[in-house]
Order: sequence, then structure tokens, then C-alpha cells
Amino acid sequence: MTNRSNPGDSAPAARPPALPLDLPGRTVFVAGAGSAGPGWSIGRAASVTYARLGAQVCVVDRDAASAEETTALIRAEGGIAETFTGDVSVEAEVVRLFAAARERFGMVDVLHHNVGIGKTGGPMDTTADDLDRIHAVNVRSLLLASQQVLPDMVARGRGAIIAISSVAGMRYVGYPHLAYSVTKAAVTQFTRMLAQQYAPHGVRANTVVPGLIDTPRIATTVAKMFSGTSLDEARRARAAQVPMGRMGSAWDVAHACAFLASDAAAYVTGTELVVDGGITGKFV
Ligand SMILES: NC(=O)c1ccc[n+]([C@@H]2O[C@H](COP(=O)([O-])OP(=O)(O)OC[C@H]3O[C@@H](n4cnc5c(N)ncnc54)[C@H](O)[C@@H]3O)[C@@H](O)[C@H]2O)c1
Repeated sequence: MTNRSNPGDSAPAARPPALPLDLPGRTVFVAGAGSAGPGWSIGRAASVTYARLGAQVCVVDRDAASAEETTALIRAEGGIAETFTGDVSVEAEVVRLFAAARERFGMVDVLHHNVGIGKTGGPMDTTADDLDRIHAVNVRSLLLASQQVLPDMVARGRGAIIAISSVAGMRYVGYPHLAYSVTKAAVTQFTRMLAQQYAPHGVRANTVVPGLIDTPRIATTVAKMFSGTSLDEARRARAAQVPMGRMGSAWDVAHACAFLASDAAAYVTGTELVVDGGITGKFV
């Protein structure tokens, strides 16, 4: 009797199929794979996770040193990675980065769109230029990268796109963060649209929605939101908001991304995977 384990095969299996989380030989392009500071950002943890699952990782960031650190971490574990430095909100840069990635590893199987910037404040604190700048990094870059990967994915009938949004794109998070929130909402809707159009071509597109995550970036941004407190106090206050009583780690988010990148998520497209310790379900 055969052991049916094809993702699309719903006939009774002789044995339950193994969970197909591995990414053997797949090429993953992580846009924003460095880190705002020393330690584990989401893009860095995701890059290392993909490599541990057998993928070859294009480590892409505008911060060359930070990207190089991610690549070194992967190589130190025996994984395969290459650094590509550039600004993914600039079309000519995106074209160059993908050409270099394809030359090194061939077709991109998984696009992990990780870049994200913001500025705290509401409409009276946000200039039109702020909004354009934040939109360019958070949304324009997703359009440009999608244009690079979709033709190959359609030709091969296979591919996965994972976009990183934020709970701020779904809810008011307790302080004004207008440009970030609206552009993160756009990331989610962009990905839903893409998923619908490309589902018949075998391309899946999903959004991961992190909640309050303890990454190096929060040292610069979150401390401002709890002004008058130390970073440790700000971190404790942030953790206390979460039903699980802690902030998420970059690994919590990376593991959700790995699932969506893998064949374990073969029937998952056009949806949001919220990784937030329960915070978006809270009344106050
Ligand atoms: N940390 C959180 O609490 C949290 C919560 C929700 C969502 N997110 C989202 O998760 C993602 C990663 O967050 P993080 O905290 O790990 O951030 P991070 O700032 O440490 O990582 C983002 C990386 O993207 C790079 N980058 C930014 N703009 C770029 C550009 N134009 N071109 C190339 N590289 C660029 C940065 O240099 C940095 O290395 C972001 O999209 C963020 O909005 C984070």
C-alpha cells in the first residue's frame, strides 16, 4: 500500500504523512534580513530558521554590516546564505538585487517581505512626505519585489509570498502610529489580492501579523511610547499588555513564517496568521 503524502491528496493515507516543514534546496529571499540593533530581529531569526530547514537564503538589507552578520550566523551553522545589499524601496535596486540573487541561487521560491518602518504620531504629526517615505518602504517595496518573483513562480507553478504586517494594521494600538498602521493595513490587503489572483497558478501569498515582539528595534521605538520610563520598565509595561504575559520573540514569528513557506501550508493562501499572544482579541 502506498503512503500518500502529496499535499493536495485527500484520499486516506496508509500512514499519516509527516509534517512537511522542510525547505530542501528552496531559495528564500528575505527583504530586511538584518537587524536594527544587536540581537535577533524577525528577519534575522526567519533567515536562520529557513536555512535550518534546508533553504538557501538571500539575506537582503540596506544595512550591509547587519546583513553580513545574519549570513555569518547561517554559515556558522553550516547553512547556505549570501548577502545582497540595497534599498528595496528603489526600483533599480530591486531589479539589481533579484538579478544577483537569481544568478547566485536560481529562481526565488519564497519571498519573505520583512522590511517595515514607521513614525509615531497622528495626522497632525505626519507630513505627506513622511507618509510617502513610509509607504515606499512598507508597500512600494512589496509591489516591486512581487513583480520580480511572480513571473518565475507562475512559470514553475509554485511559490510562496510571506508579507510581514503588524497588529497596528488591524487595531489602534494605544497611541497614534498613523503612517505605520495604514501602510501595514495595505500590506495585508495587497497580499490578499495577490493570493486571489495567483492561486490558480500555484502561488500562495499570506501575511504574518506580529503583535508586540521583543526585537532590538524596540529599544529605539518603544521606549519613546512609554516616555519617562527606562527601557526595562517599558519592556515590562509592554509585556503586561499581552494576555500571555510576555512579548513574543523573533523566533515566535519566524516559526509562523517557516510554516507558511513550507508545504505544510500547501492549502493556506490569502489569509493572516496572527502571532500576538492573544492581544488582538482583548477588549482593553
Ligand atoms: N518588533 C515588533 O514588535 C513588530 C511588531 C509588528 C510588526 N513588526 C514588523 O516586523 C518586521 C521586522 O521588525 P523588527 O522589529 O525585526 O525590525 P528591524 O528594524 O530590526 O528589521 C528590519 C530590517 O529591515 C531593514 N530595512 C528597512 N528598510 C529597508 C529598505 N528600504 N531596504 C532594505 N532593507 C531595509 C532594516 O535595515 C532592518 O535590518 C517589520 O516589518 C516590522 O514592522 C515588528
